Amino acid sequence: MRILLLLFLAGAAVAQAPSSYKPYASLADIMAGISLPKSNSVFDVTKRAPKDDMEWVAVQTDAAVLAEAGNLILTPGRLKENGQPVPQTADFRRHVQALVEAAKGAHKAALKKDADAVFVACEPLYQACYSCHQAYRFCPTCQAATRQ
Ligand code: HEC
Repeated sequence: MRILLLLFLAGAAVAQAPSSYKPYASLADIMAGISLPKSNSVFDVTKRAPKDDMEWVAVQTDAAVLAEAGNLILTPGRLKENGQPVPQTADFRRHVQALVEAAKGAHKAALKKDADAVFVACEPLYQACYSCHQAYRFCPTCQAATRQ
């Protein structure tokens, strides 16, 4: 019985964990601090292939962190630079998912140390940035208070 109670309490603590984290950085910070430099690291492979294991590991970790950025973008309570909440709609989440999948593809290619495969993975990665920006960054109403 005591064990069951402990298990129950542990379960409750785990279930509450996500909401106890309060995001601090704005979406613009995540973009400028993670999305841009980490994707550049991946895009750079198309200009110059990593020359040794150390350089490949850098690309591998950058791609993995870029995939992880999806979780940061969607953390409840995250705000945009203008103070409005980051959208949580199905459409916005679809764009985030496209970024995560593209970054995972780049990560897998980098793990194989295959510069040609990284090149192929860059296309969906670029598309993910571009299409979300068209819909949520540069659209006439995206920075307005009403857009969620
Ligand atoms: C799911 C949607 C989405 C995806 C995917 C996305 N962005 Fe963004 N990005 C935004 C939004 C929205 C803003 C505006 C942020 C704000 O107002 O706080 C932004 C802003 C930016 C900025 C400007 C930051 C600043 O300091 O003002 C950069 C740079 C950027 N994104 C780069 C990227 C790159 C590179 C990728 C792809 C690897 C990417 N983004 C993918 C939605 C997205």
